[in-house]
Amino acid sequence: MSKKPILFNLFEMNNRTGDSHGLWRHADSKHHHYNDIGFWVEIAQKIEQGGFTSLFLGDFFGAADVYRGTPEAAIRHATQFPSNDPSLIIPSMAAATTSLGFVTTISTTYEHPFLVARRLSTLDHLTRGRIALNVVTSYIASAARYFGLDQPIEHDKRYAMADEFLSVCYKLWEASWDDDAIRFDVENNIHIDPLGVHAIHHQGEFFKVNGPHVCEPSPQRTPVIFQAGSSKAGRDFAARHAECVFVQGRTVTAVKENIAAIRQRATDFGRNPADILMFSQQTAIVAPTRAEAQDRFEDYARYRTADSALAQYCGSSGYDLAALDPDSVLTFMRTEANQSRAAQYTTQSDRAYTVREVIADVGRFGSGILVGTPIDIADRLEAIMDETGLDGFNFNSIVTPATIFDFVDQVIPELRNRGRIAAPATGTLRESLFGAGHARIDPTHPARQTAS
Ligand SMILES: Cc1cc2nc3c(=O)[nH]c(=O)nc-3n(C[C@H](O)[C@H](O)[C@H](O)COP(=O)(O)O)c2cc1C
Repeated sequence: MSKKPILFNLFEMNNRTGDSHGLWRHADSKHHHYNDIGFWVEIAQKIEQGGFTSLFLGDFFGAADVYRGTPEAAIRHATQFPSNDPSLIIPSMAAATTSLGFVTTISTTYEHPFLVARRLSTLDHLTRGRIALNVVTSYIASAARYFGLDQPIEHDKRYAMADEFLSVCYKLWEASWDDDAIRFDVENNIHIDPLGVHAIHHQGEFFKVNGPHVCEPSPQRTPVIFQAGSSKAGRDFAARHAECVFVQGRTVTAVKENIAAIRQRATDFGRNPADILMFSQQTAIVAPTRAEAQDRFEDYARYRTADSALAQYCGSSGYDLAALDPDSVLTFMRTEANQSRAAQYTTQSDRAYTVREVIADVGRFGSGILVGTPIDIADRLEAIMDETGLDGFNFNSIVTPATIFDFVDQVIPELRNRGRIAAPATGTLRESLFGAGHARIDPTHPARQTAS
C-alpha cells in the first residue's frame, strides 16, 4: 500500500521578522524585505516547486504587551510587529504560481462578516479557487483597544461570535446566488437573472445582515477553512467548522490527544472525522552532512533573542512570567488569551515546570527543531506522521528564505523519492487537499446545511 502524502504549508507573516526571534540579525536573513512584493513572489514560486500545498499567512493586531506589562520588548525586537495586511500580497503571488494555495488570517472578533465574505470571494475569483481562511478570534489583548474596547471580549464569547460570523458568511457564499444566475444573454438583454440572486436575512446575537451577496459565486464558494484552537471551545469550533486544523501540543501524546478529541467532536456534530486534515508546526535545519547541519544550528542559536520569544509567549498565554516567583511551579490560570499556550507548560505538559524553567525553555533556541541530513529529516517527518496520525506540517522558517530554500532543495527531493509528495494539483485548493471533484465544501459541512 502506498504511503499517504505529507502535506506542507509554509507558515509566514507579512512582517519584518516572520516567526523567528532574533534571527533577523543573521546576515542571510532577508525577511525585512517584506515590503518588496518580489520577496514574496520568490518564496511562493519556490515552495510551489517544492510541492507545498499552501502559503499560510498569520496576522495579529498590535504589539504583545503582557511581558513586563509593556510592548517595549515586542517593538524593540520587531516581534510580530509591525504587521501588514496579509491578504494584499496574495494576488501577486497567485499570478506568479499555478497550483499553490493561500491561507489568509481573518479575525472574527474585530472584522465584519459581510466585508470578509466579499474580500474572500474576490480573492477566490482572482486566484481561481486557491483561497483559504485561517479563522482566529484574536487573543491578543491590545487588539481590543484599536476597536474601541477597554477590555478584550472573553475567550468563549469570542468563539460564540466566530460561530455566528461564519454562519453569516456561509449564507452569503452558499445560499445567495444560484449557480446559473449569470446569464450574459445579449439577445434578451439579461446580464444577471434577478430571480437567481437571493437576499439573506440574518438576525443573530452579534450580527444583523440583510441583502444578497455582492459577489458572484467564486470557484470554491466557501473558501477552505483552517483553524487552530485547542481549548475546549476552540476544539468544538474546529470540529464543527474546520477542514484543516493546526494541532498543538509539546509532546506526541498531547498532539495525539488533541487530534482524537477534535475527531470525536466532529463525529458528535455529524461530520465525517476524515474530512478534517491535521497539521502541526515543524521546522528543520538541513545540510548535506550532520556536522554541517549541527554547525548551522549552533550558528543560528547565537542569534536567538530570549526577550523576543518571551514577549510573544507572555502575550499569547496571558501570563507575565516576569511578574511571577521564578521558583514557583507554573500552574494553569484561566486567562482570556490563548489557552493552548497557557496549557503548554501546565495541563498539557509532561511534567511540572517552575517559572524559571519556562523562561529558560521559551528563551532557548532549538525546541522541536529537526537537525540533520536530508535522510535524517525525512525519517523523522515520516516517523512523526506515523506516531501522531497527522496529515502534514506547517513549516516554519528560521532564517528566511534560507531555511525554506534548503528544505525545498534538500528534503523535498528525498521525500519525493519516498513517494511522500503529492503530484501538483490542477484544480482548486480544496481539490489539492481532498482530491479532484472536491472544489465545493462537503455537503455535510454546516456551510451547506445552513444554506439549504
Ligand atoms: C499554527 C497557528 C497559527 C496561528 N495563527 C494565528 C494568527 O495568525 N492570528 C491569531 O490571532 N492567532 C493565531 N493563532 C492562535 C489561534 O488562533 C488560537 O487563538 C490559539 O490557538 C488559542 O486557541 P484556544 O484559546 O482555543 O486554545 C495561531 C495558532 C497556531 C497554532
